[in-house]
Amino acid sequence: MTEILAPTPDGLARAARFLKAEELVAFPTETVYGLGGDARSDIAVARIFEAKGRPRFNPLIVHLPDLDAARAVGVFDDRAERVASAFWPGPLTLVVPLRPSARLSPLVTADLPSVAIRVPAHPVAQQLLRAFSGPVAAPSANPSGRVSPTRAEHVMAGLQGRIAAVVDGGACEVGLESTILGLVGEPVILRPGGIPAEALEACLGRPLATGGDAAKPSAPGQLASHYAPSARVRLEVTRPEPGEFWLGFGPEAAAADLNLSPNGDLVEAAANLFHYLREADARAKGTIAVSPVPEKGLGRAINDRLRRAAAPRG
Ligand code: TXA
Ligand code: MG
Repeated sequence: MTEILAPTPDGLARAARFLKAEELVAFPTETVYGLGGDARSDIAVARIFEAKGRPRFNPLIVHLPDLDAARAVGVFDDRAERVASAFWPGPLTLVVPLRPSARLSPLVTADLPSVAIRVPAHPVAQQLLRAFSGPVAAPSANPSGRVSPTRAEHVMAGLQGRIAAVVDGGACEVGLESTILGLVGEPVILRPGGIPAEALEACLGRPLATGGDAAKPSAPGQLASHYAPSARVRLEVTRPEPGEFWLGFGPEAAAADLNLSPNGDLVEAAANLFHYLREADARAKGTIAVSPVPEKGLGRAINDRLRRAAAPRG
C-alpha cells in the first residue's frame, strides 16, 4: 500500500516519520518528483535501488534544505560557495568532496570520495526536508528506464505498492532534472538540466567543459574512481579454497567469514555490500571468495558491483 499524503503539516509530519523509519517517500521538487530515503541509512538507500529496479549502484543526489546544511555534508570551496549562493535553492546539483563526518551510506555516493548535493526550491520539498531534518537521497521517482515523473499520479503509476508514500504537491514546474556541476577538479557540467550552462559560466567567469572526462575521478559511472579491493576477488564460489576469505550470501554460506545476508535477503545484502567489501579486504590474507548472488532484482546491481571488484586491474 502506498499512501498519498497532502502537503499539510500533518501529511508532511507523517512523511518525515516514514523517512525516519527508513521507509521511502516520493516528494515533489521544482524539477521532477524524487524518490526519497534517509541518506545515512544503508537499508533505506538499498530500498531506493530495489524500488527503482536499478541494475547498477550509481551515485544518488543528496537533498538538503539550505547551504548551511550542505556544508556539513560536502566541502565547499570558493567556486562552490559562489554558485550555491547564486542558484540555491534551485535546479542545480553540485558535486563536491564528501565530508566523512556526514556519515552518509556508502551506497549514496557509490563509495566515491565526492557527493552530489542539491537544495531544491519547491516549498513542499523544503518543508519535508525541514520536518525530517536530515539528508535525503532522491533519484527521480520512476522505475529504471522510464520517464521521470512530474505529477504524483505518474509516481503512483510506476511505484505504487513499492514505496510507503507520495506527497502530492501537484505538477512540477521545470519538468527537467537539475543541472549537475562537478566541482571536484576543473569545473565541468556533468548533466545539462534546469539551470542553463551560460548562467553558470557567467557566475564562474569562465567557459565550462561538458561531460565527464575519463581522466578525472569525479566523472559519474567511472570504474577507476570506485573503491576497489586490493585483494584478488573470485566470484560464484560455493566452496572456498583453504586460506581464502569467504564473503558469503544466504544460508548455504553459514560457515562464511562474513555473510552479506544469512537469510538471503537482497536488500540486506545491498545495504552491507560496500562495508563488507572493505572489511573483507582488510581481513583477507589472500583471495576473497564470494558466494553466488541471484541475478534478479537488487541482485543484478550487487553482481554488477562484485564483477567490477573482481575485474583485473592495471
Ligand atoms: O532534478 C534532479 O536532480 C532530481 C530531483 C529528484 O532532485 N534528482 C535526480 O537524481 O535526478 P539522480 O539520483 O537520478 O541523479 C544522479 C546523478 C547520477 O546519474 C550521477 O550522474 C550524478 O547524479 N552524481 C551523483 N553523485 C555523483 C558524484 N559523486 N560524482 C559524479 N556524479 C554524481
Ligand atoms: Mg532519473
